Amino acid sequence: MDIRLLRSSDLPLIQHANLENLPENYFMKYYLYHALSWPQLSYVAVDVSRPKKTPYDYPKIVGYVLAKMEEEPTDGIQHGHITSLSVMRTHRKLGIAEKLMRQSQLAMVETFGAQYVSLHVRVSNQAAIHLYSKTLGFDREKIEEKYYADGEDAHCMKLDLSSIK
Ligand code: ACO
Repeated sequence: MDIRLLRSSDLPLIQHANLENLPENYFMKYYLYHALSWPQLSYVAVDVSRPKKTPYDYPKIVGYVLAKMEEEPTDGIQHGHITSLSVMRTHRKLGIAEKLMRQSQLAMVETFGAQYVSLHVRVSNQAAIHLYSKTLGFDREKIEEKYYADGEDAHCMKLDLSSIK
């Protein structure tokens, strides 16, 4: 498994993975906005073990993290934000999401001097909550009621990045 920076040419596959894995979907221009504005922060997991069936075949993208810097932070503190993270069902519980997140967090610090990273996650999403709070050490800051279009609440989570400076 290779973890590498996202390229603009990956975006159709990322959009496909997002549609497969999450109800929060975006127009292509929103993916492009991330790739062009913060090309250092978004990563993909590529299954390089998959055999090439034709010369035009390309390695399969099995996970991605789409991340950005907050452009006008209300608290005045430079910080990153995870817009979307997902791993294809066939490749879950192999540590891919953890690796994608750690790469992005490191780049936020090294490239932009981020002091923390934030994200939203559905209160029912036990897998992601485990990853964020137990594996990566995020704190639950607050609940944002009816954050999602279907009315579900979100945990607003934060991870202090000072330990990786
Ligand atoms: N239930 C409980 N714990 C789980 C589950 C699960 N279903 N899946 C993974 N975990 C745990 C692992 O055991 C591991 O824990 P450990 O560090 O204590 O050993 C930890 O989470 C990290 O596991 P990874 O293998 O790195 O996670 P994975 O690659 O399977 O991806 C993810 C996790 C991204 C949540 C995946 O299940 C997924 O794509 N789900 C659908 C999309 C989604 O929910 N994305 C997050 C939305 S929030 C946002 O985008 C900001």
